[in-house]
Amino acid sequence: MSESSPVNRTLIHGGTVLAASGPFAADVLVEGETIAALLRPGAEPGAVDERIDARGKYVLPGGIDAHTHMEMPFGGAFAVDTFETGTRAAAWGGTTTIIDFPKQEKGTGLESTLDAWHAKAEGQCAIDYGFHMILSDVNDGTLKEMRTCLDRGVNSFKLFMAYPGALYSTDGEILRAMDTAAEIGGLIMMHAENGIAIDELAAKALASGRTEPVQHGLTRPPELEGEATSRAIRLAEVTRAPLYIVHLSAHQALEAVSEARDAGRDVFAETCPQYLYLSLDDLARPDFEGAKYVASPPLREKSHQPSLWKGLRTNDLSVVSTDHCPFCFNEEKQLGREDFTKIPNGIPGVEHRMDLLHQGVVAGELSLARWVDTCATTPARMFGLYPRKGVLAPGSDADIVVYDPAAEQVLSVNTHHMNVDYSAYEGMRVTGKVDTVLSRGSVVISGDEFRGRKSHGKYLPRDSCQLLR
Ligand code: URP
Ligand code: ZN
Ligand code: ZN
Repeated sequence: MSESSPVNRTLIHGGTVLAASGPFAADVLVEGETIAALLRPGAEPGAVDERIDARGKYVLPGGIDAHTHMEMPFGGAFAVDTFETGTRAAAWGGTTTIIDFPKQEKGTGLESTLDAWHAKAEGQCAIDYGFHMILSDVNDGTLKEMRTCLDRGVNSFKLFMAYPGALYSTDGEILRAMDTAAEIGGLIMMHAENGIAIDELAAKALASGRTEPVQHGLTRPPELEGEATSRAIRLAEVTRAPLYIVHLSAHQALEAVSEARDAGRDVFAETCPQYLYLSLDDLARPDFEGAKYVASPPLREKSHQPSLWKGLRTNDLSVVSTDHCPFCFNEEKQLGREDFTKIPNGIPGVEHRMDLLHQGVVAGELSLARWVDTCATTPARMFGLYPRKGVLAPGSDADIVVYDPAAEQVLSVNTHHMNVDYSAYEGMRVTGKVDTVLSRGSVVISGDEFRGRKSHGKYLPRDSCQLLR
């Protein structure tokens, strides 16, 4: 630290700053944990402790991954990234905030669930973190506790139209939760697949001896995601609850969202990199390899991908999250060797979101502005973190990524930092790579070195969705 200044001062100079409004040349001055100023390039800021050379690079707000599952119990297994390993991997990929999902078990309350997730995460995270809440048991007590969640900085609640007998909520239960959300200013997040119909199709496949991973995709057709999405939108209309469709994968679902948005509804949606780059062909890989790609909703035919990219451009898809939910191929995924319905659902990806979406910029699918908007700025607004997060502005947290748009890398299990024994993107060559990452003013990634620490990340109590009328 310099003698003249009470707090650490860092200057990131010579780069192109990226904002949701577009790119511009500026130097970024960090003081302590926050951004002090955006300066004319080359302006003299006085004494600084550290200079980071960003010439030829982008300087953007740290990514916000609003959909992760660290250590989540699912189908007899636990997601294998802990908060420690998962947040470290996120940092390597330019993500400086995650929002994870505490999961209510049937017969338990929301407060105790939240306590349990705080205990898992506290002191473990390399980057800042917040929580949503999964509701799997909608009853009077749960509805009451939705209010206390709000007091604890959790104001988004995920419901499932899939997984009957486990996470599933009936339309009546959904209606009740939406009613409460509308009343208290909460946001309903929906896993929109018609689980009752899917279970019939899956049982029929198993009864006829079709047990392999591709059946996971074939028994969860896109029409049943479209149907559930429309139904969720209708229920939200009736209750006047704002609605956020998670992990949207199919053009039928996107059509329903677009129609609702055209009608002026508070309906939002996210998609995930796996739906932009992977497909049903991956689920059909031989020798049980398809199990690596089992997630719900399933990977779709490639023909869905152009409409998802278009949705990102038009803002009908507002956010890109990963739904990071890693299970090892050689362990947890083997639970479903003889029966695809027993394969734990989830694909790892928290490390690669920023790179994969930058690849969309390289391919001409997205502008630089939309890259930053969908991966950082809109998630911050959607989940009540703006302007503390999601923007490079005076007073904002100094969560900053210096990104080299010209670097080349090949994604692989041999080089990634996620605690999982395969890469869903093995061998994929991408242009662009994280160079430096700051989390609240501290350098956590510098080139090929991790300089963070697991107790650095702080819990982020969140405000309400900032995109509502
Ligand atoms: O397959 C998935 N998506 N696993 C994580 C749980 C969920 O539904 O988001
Ligand atoms: Zn889900
Ligand atoms: Zn998920």
